[in-house]
Amino acid sequence: MDKLVIRGGKKLKGAVHISGAKNAALPVIASTLLAPGGSIIRNVPNLRDVSTIGRLLTNFGAEFSYKRGNAAINTKRIKTLEAPYDLVRTMRASVLVLGPLLARFGQAKVSLPGGCAIGARPINLHLMGLEKMGADIKLESGYIIARGKRLEGTSIYLDIPTVTGTENIMMAATLAKGETLIENAAREPEVVDLANALVAMGAKIEGAGGSIIRIEGVDEMKPLEYSVIPDRIEAGTFMAIAGITGSDITIQGCRNEHMDATILKFQDAGLVFENVTGGIRVTGPTRPRASDVKTLPYPGFPTDMQAQFMALMSIADGTSIISETIFENRFMHVAELRRMGADITIEGGTATVKGIPMLKSAPLMATDLRASASLIVAALASRGETVIHRLYHLDRGYEKIEKKLRGIGADIKRVKK
Ligand code: EPU
Repeated sequence: MDKLVIRGGKKLKGAVHISGAKNAALPVIASTLLAPGGSIIRNVPNLRDVSTIGRLLTNFGAEFSYKRGNAAINTKRIKTLEAPYDLVRTMRASVLVLGPLLARFGQAKVSLPGGCAIGARPINLHLMGLEKMGADIKLESGYIIARGKRLEGTSIYLDIPTVTGTENIMMAATLAKGETLIENAAREPEVVDLANALVAMGAKIEGAGGSIIRIEGVDEMKPLEYSVIPDRIEAGTFMAIAGITGSDITIQGCRNEHMDATILKFQDAGLVFENVTGGIRVTGPTRPRASDVKTLPYPGFPTDMQAQFMALMSIADGTSIISETIFENRFMHVAELRRMGADITIEGGTATVKGIPMLKSAPLMATDLRASASLIVAALASRGETVIHRLYHLDRGYEKIEKKLRGIGADIKRVKK
């Protein structure tokens, strides 16, 4: 397995370009199943998760090819409606094909995603929404078997504003008969991006980005050409890197309006932001200030930035309290940060981080996607050489991260095995 070798302590300077958002690209790619024909999706990051969804579509009989940020998909001929366990277990977001398949073909068989490193992650709300629209859903031998001729619009209240749940229901509702209301919908920019893509395919959707989304079903959807939004979590990760290394990094192509909570928290920690043409320039402080943070659904502080923020806080001046409210097991990075000398204690969903002046290098193991990112953040500021093992997760979500970091002066290399 590949590993990353990082010699920390260097000041970084220069510009990085932000890739397309993984969590926008995946649902938009899944949505192409709603309409027969050829679609082109642009600004798609070159990631393992993108090739997994490509394999899933190919498995259904669709054509999928990817070249330099463009995914070309043709969903005219679909020969099977089954998403097999082997693909779903490598990427939970595979469940995003459920809504579109059911809506277009009246049936789908999708492996039930299991739990993952960060939590149990049930999909009961996805299934409840589809059932309320008239689908007959059974769980058999680890598979969701969904049937329903034409789904019918209805009002659906989500107990939790689930991101992929909102997306699945919204996609299914585009082809339903009548109007669907999703109440307490997720408000993430990726949900809005998917809604924009669906509208470009002919859907009638209002209110995405707010808590109530109204979808008026149409009889058919058409293929689309669409460019996905930049990745706000990748951008936030580079902000954390600027903060922890006291560097001057210009982040190009990100959408600042998607990052209010993240930027405000980083400002609280002493980072300085300046809008420049095409991006935002971030300057890290000599030493970050402690700042408390609580993860919340958008527009709150994103759970996907919690691990990177904690890495920053581990060398802050003072003590910060970090509360994780979205996933029950998203502190896997803490044990690794502690191995670098960080002073962090956990009680339930709350971590108390007492900042120390400097982290020390250590061999580390990446446990999930954002935990991997936090270890890179920490390693770039630590004394000595850090080796990060198990890059599998990182490659699911960060495009060419070591190349981007080398471009701004980091001493980082990937050792292939
Ligand atoms: N939940 C339920 N029932 C459901 C659905 C969700 O109880 O039917 C719970 C989950 O267990 C969790 C909370 O609701 O405690 C929120 O989960 P949500 O469904 O919003 O998460 P998700 O849709 O599975 C997406 C992102 C995640 C991101 C979360 C939260 C994609 C493909 N994934 O997951 O991204 O952390 O929203 O913002 O969009 C990542 O990129 O590293 C990542 C994990």
